[in-house]
Amino acid sequence: MQTPFVAVAAAEAIAPGKFIRVEVDGRPYLIARVEDRYYAVEDNCSHEDYPLSYGCLDGRRIKCSLHGSRFSLETGVPEDDPADSPIATFQVRVAEGQVWLDPSRPANGG
Ligand code: FES
Repeated sequence: MQTPFVAVAAAEAIAPGKFIRVEVDGRPYLIARVEDRYYAVEDNCSHEDYPLSYGCLDGRRIKCSLHGSRFSLETGVPEDDPADSPIATFQVRVAEGQVWLDPSRPANGG
């Protein structure tokens, strides 16, 4: 059976506390590393369709730079107004020195 996971970056290319933006099949994703855990979310704020990669990490949250909503990297749930709907999160794995993303479906149903 073919795996849905796609290699998107060298694991060491993302320093702890940093993120990168990648595209898979023309869709943008934000791949973040907090300590030794990696997270993947859609690179799109649910408030006004604005790239979250213009923002910054705040612990295990990504903060939108347009109006300041912070989203959990684990659940996609917004923790501040004005956003009121979650962003999609995706499964990631690290293997063979690479970060692998499953873009086939959101992990949180978002
Ligand atoms: S566009 Fe992100 S909080 Fe408004």
